[in-house]
Amino acid sequence: MTGAARGLGEAITARLTADGASVVLIDISPEVLGTAAALAGDAPGATTSGLVADVSDETACENVISQAAARLGGVDLLVNNAGIGGPDTAVVDTAAADFRRVVAVNLGGTFLASRTAARLMIAQGTGGAIVNLGSIFGQQGVAGGAGYCASKAGVALLTQSLALELAPHQIRVNTIAPGNMATEMHWEELRSRAAAAGTSFDDQVSLVRDGVPLRRHGTGADIAGAVAWLASRDASYVTGQTIGVNGGVWLS
Ligand SMILES: NC(=O)c1ccc[n+]([C@@H]2O[C@H](COP(=O)([O-])OP(=O)(O)OC[C@H]3O[C@@H](n4cnc5c(N)ncnc54)[C@H](O)[C@@H]3O)[C@@H](O)[C@H]2O)c1
Repeated sequence: MTGAARGLGEAITARLTADGASVVLIDISPEVLGTAAALAGDAPGATTSGLVADVSDETACENVISQAAARLGGVDLLVNNAGIGGPDTAVVDTAAADFRRVVAVNLGGTFLASRTAARLMIAQGTGGAIVNLGSIFGQQGVAGGAGYCASKAGVALLTQSLALELAPHQIRVNTIAPGNMATEMHWEELRSRAAAAGTSFDDQVSLVRDGVPLRRHGTGADIAGAVAWLASRDASYVTGQTIGVNGGVWLS
């Protein structure tokens, strides 16, 4: 489980352990060790432990996924959740390094972790599942978010290619595309929008909420439920899909 120190990753981990899964939490932030410890006692029979690594670093990512699998005695689920928001600037004002960084973490990290986990799953020969975190912004471009949008659109098509390549091994690969979720990443974006528009943070929160047909922000539990389903036998005929969990936001 990557990007597990806080936010959606923490909520997904809590749900998986409550369902009885043992999870290794991976994050670039050392806070992940505290998150793993805090979740440790929640589910009898399930274990949690933390590892610190940058998923965009090829060697570090390969090592940490292998180490996680060794700790667990194998790997049957990888959740690629680690992500960053990227520069909130127009393309003409965006530094190449900032564009490359968001693609390296969101798309490159998903590629690297999936590659190592897929090799391990193929060697195990018992199938498995990979669930990636995309975004509504990977389904439609927005001004000022080119790097993030491109990285998340890339995740959706990486998912399709991987699903086809891994289907013969009974390894399913899917993406969840969250909408506007009540996490620090989204609040940071709204603070930035408020500063640019000269309005308050609360105004931006209301503006987003009023544009969602279900009239609320999504929660970690909303995403965790979709991950738990995709990881379960109930989804055993589902692969290569990008599933929106967004309160119906593209319908209005
Ligand atoms: N919050 C939203 O509204 C929203 C919407 C759509 C998609 N998403 C996606 O969901 C995922 C989780 O988002 P969140 O809202 O919980 O964000 P968050 O910022 O709260 O959590 C992201 C986690 O990823 C970790 N991380 C960042 N770079 C990393 C790296 N290089 N290596 C390892 N870990 C790294 C961070 O330290 C953090 O713990 C992200 O992929 C994000 O793009 C979020």
